[in-house]
Amino acid sequence: MEKDIKKDKQKKIKRGVIIFCIVVALAVSFGFFYDIFIEGGNPLQIISVGEGGAAGGEGPANLAPTSDDVVASEDIPDLTDDLAGDVEDPANTPEETAQNLSDISDTTKNETVYYDTPFIPEGGDETVQLVNKVCGVSKNYKPANLQLTKYRATDRAEANQYMVDYAANAMDAMIEAAMAEGYTVLVTTAYRSYNFQSTLYNNYVAKDGQAAADKYSARPGTSEHQTGLAADLTSATVNYKLTKDFGSTQEGQWLDAHAHEYGFILRYTSAGEPITGYMYEPWHFRYVGVENATYIHEKGITLEEFIAERY
Ligand code: DAL
Ligand code: ZN
Repeated sequence: MEKDIKKDKQKKIKRGVIIFCIVVALAVSFGFFYDIFIEGGNPLQIISVGEGGAAGGEGPANLAPTSDDVVASEDIPDLTDDLAGDVEDPANTPEETAQNLSDISDTTKNETVYYDTPFIPEGGDETVQLVNKVCGVSKNYKPANLQLTKYRATDRAEANQYMVDYAANAMDAMIEAAMAEGYTVLVTTAYRSYNFQSTLYNNYVAKDGQAAADKYSARPGTSEHQTGLAADLTSATVNYKLTKDFGSTQEGQWLDAHAHEYGFILRYTSAGEPITGYMYEPWHFRYVGVENATYIHEKGITLEEFIAERY
């Protein structure tokens, strides 16, 4: 009798275990199929959460980067050396600077070397190209990408009012800024060919004699107007003449104070006369780029001195 009761109990336990297993199996299957057919997901998918992301939020954006997304460290250029070079690159010693200056601007030697293209100091770019009484340029040199400036004196030939495109754009912007302040200035001449410079210089020599002409007009092949980076500016307040008085006009003073913001320097200052060999020309502006122009303007030096100490 007791045996029968025990057997009956065991049977009940077995049945309970089987029913429990069936219920668990059904529940798991239901969840599985619910994910697939109702939610459209894959219950076996492993979602990786990227930095700051949350699973199930923005989709792929939340996935951790795959190995394809990670740039190999060898592919990232190491700029440390270059940057350190810029900061630490020492300026030339005073002796080197003096030697460089003598090489590129000693007008007492009365010797000009004519290069095929304008002289560029080693390590410099075309914004610091130098054409002066010592560094001349070939008769055949004509810069590429000349562009007509926008604000021109109309009594002059258009052929002489071009600049290299980036310098022309900077010139247009500078004149527009001057106009916004109420000052109107115009380009008289900018790029000048060797032949045109030759005509100008010869006319001045005929008028004033060679010694005087050499103080304000470049011999052909030695004018930086031939680079397309220089321009002469004037205004109605001096009857569109190129005169020292332009430096005392509001237009001339605005240019003197702001030209560097557009990449231009006043190329021939009174202080620079012993180095350039030219008298003060408040109308002659030369493009060297904003950074160089700002440095030159703030230090009050000539382009020759800048090149001598920097390159
Ligand atoms: N007036 C400047 C020096 C030139 O002729 O280029
Ligand atoms: Zn000029």
